[in-house]
Amino acid sequence: MISIGGRTVTRIIAHRGSKGTHPENTLAAFKEAVHVGSDGIELDVQLSKDNHLIVIHDERVDRTTNGHGEVRDLTLAELKELDAGSWFKKNPVIQEIPTLEEVVLFLKKENFRGLLNIEIKTDKVPYDRIEQLLVQLMTSQNWPFEYMYSSFYFESLEKIWQIDKKQTIALIFDMSEKAERQALLTDFVEGIHPKIDWVLEHKEELADFPKSIRPWTVNEEKEMMFCFRHHLTGIHTDYPKKALELRGAMQN
Ligand code: G3P
Ligand code: MG
Repeated sequence: MISIGGRTVTRIIAHRGSKGTHPENTLAAFKEAVHVGSDGIELDVQLSKDNHLIVIHDERVDRTTNGHGEVRDLTLAELKELDAGSWFKKNPVIQEIPTLEEVVLFLKKENFRGLLNIEIKTDKVPYDRIEQLLVQLMTSQNWPFEYMYSSFYFESLEKIWQIDKKQTIALIFDMSEKAERQALLTDFVEGIHPKIDWVLEHKEELADFPKSIRPWTVNEEKEMMFCFRHHLTGIHTDYPKKALELRGAMQN
């Protein structure tokens, strides 16, 4: 939750930038997320062959670029030759795949003051040293925005916490009761990022849940309203502009 005009409201986090309107995980999507006034931005991080932190959702480049292959088999120079924006039919625009460093510098330049949620994509490929590289970059300067780490892969979160105990850490899951228990039993886990369906099915427990709850992906108005009314900490949405307008209308 954040405070706006003395009221506590659910934080609106732009999922992969503004994924519903711009090509996901590109500077165009992050720019849109900042310009509409998102309270937060979520992005996904994988590691290139030469150990650069790359902002892309899939382990392969095929779906969101004009290239082929696994991110871990491509160097930064090879990844930089690809176009990650023209595939997006709704709003095609030529875009490079950004590195995490480029994104955080961009957010700083854009005066972003919200929360950056860095999702560590280690649930399919457990990239060696990705956690060390993340903490190294993120602690290299005082960013003007807040940031946190999240992952489906508990071991990555544990590694982050072992390296730097001051970090805000959340466990992502879909409907898993096991993950929910693991989050509840682990002190360093500040919050849970479950699939929206989990939230809808656990509505009686939300008010007393002892950790932050920021579900994904909340795109329907009815679901957004449900989350706002239940005072959830945050939502991840592909449509931050729509969510901000709806939250504003509900406050009036
Ligand atoms: O962080 C929430 C959400 O991004 C998790 O799912 O697959 O969109 O990365 P995914
Ligand atoms: Mg994600």
